[in-house]
Amino acid sequence: MKRVKRRDLAPGMYVVRYGLGTPDDPFVSVERAILVPEDVALHVPADARNLVIDESFRPPTGVLVGRLPVDVPLEEELPQAERLYGEAVSYAHGFMDDVRRGRPIDYRTSLPLVDGFIDSVFRNRSAAAAICKLKHFDEYTYSHSINVGILAVVLGERLGLERDVLRLLGIAGVFHDVGKARMPLEVLNKPGKLDEKEFAIMRRHPREGFELMKDQEGLPPQVLRAVLSHHERSDGNGYPDGLKGGQISRFTRVISVVDVYDALTSRRVYKDAMPPGKVLSLMYRWRLSDFSAQVVENFIKALGVYPVGSFVRLSSGEYGVVVGLNQDNPLRPPVKKVLDSDGRPVEPVSVTLSEVPDPGDGLSIRECLNPDDYGVDVSRLVA
Ligand SMILES: [Fe+2]
Ligand SMILES: [Fe+2]
Repeated sequence: MKRVKRRDLAPGMYVVRYGLGTPDDPFVSVERAILVPEDVALHVPADARNLVIDESFRPPTGVLVGRLPVDVPLEEELPQAERLYGEAVSYAHGFMDDVRRGRPIDYRTSLPLVDGFIDSVFRNRSAAAAICKLKHFDEYTYSHSINVGILAVVLGERLGLERDVLRLLGIAGVFHDVGKARMPLEVLNKPGKLDEKEFAIMRRHPREGFELMKDQEGLPPQVLRAVLSHHERSDGNGYPDGLKGGQISRFTRVISVVDVYDALTSRRVYKDAMPPGKVLSLMYRWRLSDFSAQVVENFIKALGVYPVGSFVRLSSGEYGVVVGLNQDNPLRPPVKKVLDSDGRPVEPVSVTLSEVPDPGDGLSIRECLNPDDYGVDVSRLVA
């Protein structure tokens, strides 16, 4: 244990507590590793004095310490992310068709795209994730595979994982549902809810995917396990093996969190898309029963409580679109007002949300809504 000043905190240190335990300087336990420079602001208030760090701390292997974010503006990164996304969806078509025709697939061909996702996320944390939800490029199965690949990288970056691991997460995301290419098309693309029998057929896709991937030379075992186990749930109610808690790898949990998020926020023939903010609050509720709480919490931090592109009703009764991420205060993202309180379109204009949500007149976000219900095209407003 060692005393340090806040300004001396650096990546690789582990903060145990701050304060002396006096009324003037109360004792606050922190227990957080500083992995990237922003962690200081995240875990230690600016006025904290008398910090104590644990000198014996060594960051876990696989965790990259101290990478500085580049932070290209969202508007600048969106067009690049969109181009990459289009290419990636065509790639997903390609390998799914290959499987249907009985041709072999090679996971390594996805690497240039996955590296592209990682570069994009390193330039700007929100752009690639926003594109996943703003563009309705294609049929669900293809865009979903790519969305899960991108969102797994976004979440992995937030967890402080290094590039090699992010690459594996991207690959696992892209191929997690490859087994669906072996599902009968009339079940896969059924324009309605599946009945019991059809559902039982669909539940075979993780094992089919495992069979398709397992003989590829050099395929990392974490990826293979994620393909097989991405529908397992912490409480044992998942499939195919009914694994519980610790039996599910952390790597697999990252994939299952982003998989559920993308599925619920996607529009299907038989259901509307749920607003991203609503899905995140549901998943927060399920964080113990279904997922790893720590993974869910970091996913919410990565996307913001109201992810970019969220359509929201403000406390003034007016409507707006979330156009960015506020790392310091996730409840106060940048918002553009787009409809007045009667739902009539207005010239989009930035509004300022109040510092503290809602004592009195301050402007704040009240709820997340589905933009389709209000005839709002979010993609035009964000990009
Ligand atoms: Fe799946
Ligand atoms: Fe999936």
